[in-house]
Amino acid sequence: MSTTNIYSFSQPIIVEKPSSSSLSETIRNLISNAFAPFQQEYRRWPWSQIGTIVIVCIGSYTVYKYLPGPYRRYYMLSTKNFSSQYNKALHVEKETLFNELKNVKAREEGRTKIQVVEIGAAHGANMAYYPPNIIELICVEPIREFEVYLTQTLGRNPHVKCRELLVGGAENLSVIRDNQVDAVVSTLTLSSCKNVHQVLREIRRILKPGGIFLYMENIRSPNPFLAFIQYLCSPMYKFLFGISLIRNIPEYIERAHFSGGTTQRIFVARGIPFLLSPHVSGIARK
Ligand SMILES: C[S@@+](CC[C@H](N)C(=O)[O-])C[C@H]1O[C@@H](n2cnc3c(N)ncnc32)[C@H](O)[C@@H]1O
Repeated sequence: MSTTNIYSFSQPIIVEKPSSSSLSETIRNLISNAFAPFQQEYRRWPWSQIGTIVIVCIGSYTVYKYLPGPYRRYYMLSTKNFSSQYNKALHVEKETLFNELKNVKAREEGRTKIQVVEIGAAHGANMAYYPPNIIELICVEPIREFEVYLTQTLGRNPHVKCRELLVGGAENLSVIRDNQVDAVVSTLTLSSCKNVHQVLREIRRILKPGGIFLYMENIRSPNPFLAFIQYLCSPMYKFLFGISLIRNIPEYIERAHFSGGTTQRIFVARGIPFLLSPHVSGIARK
């Protein structure tokens, strides 16, 4: 009697055929194999946010580089908005600084007003702080489009007589004679201009002997940890607000050798972004 062996398989037998996949499939497989560990590792990263940040950065840079008009409009609006917050936060410090102008005497015969140059005047952020009726102002501002806003601000502050708006950087004030003006004012401009040494040289040149330079600027923090964060964030601040976070303004002033000496105060400004909070405010005399 013959016996029959019956084999039953619960799973169908799959015979692997030799691969006949197309070239594109092979490439796809290679790529997905190459990225497999990456996908595992970085799966949890917030890719949509990272993508948004990259797109915003590339977009902003494109606007900055290739569309100067829109960038300037954005820059003017952000400067205006920021300076109203800044003035609220540093009202007392600004008042104290600008009151120094009351001590300056017009020295020429027949002149009742003192001649003041403000560099980086923008839309006139400081007009409200000038003491009444003793100032004849020359504004220096590289962005011509600020003129409209500056005119509006001057309309609201008739106590300041602005004689002229010089459009250009304070690195070159050649239209102003040597020893011509009684005072120069800079708020957040030494931290914005291209060449601080050159600006300070020009300020010293145009000031009369005994004239004063008033300044209030954000500075690099004396705290190394905050200074490190400022280094990291400075390019972004420069782009967004035109301000460098890492300038050692007291050192620049010292190296400018104002012969009449310098009185300054380094402090932490409250009520403004912490990266801008390290501040210096002072008077340098020629
Ligand atoms: C941060 S804003 C400060 C504006 C204003 N002084 C204030 O306190 O709000 C810097 C200003 O300096 C101007 N600025 C930039 N580079 C300059 C330069 N080289 N000379 C003069 N002003 C400059 C900018 O156009 C801008 O108006």
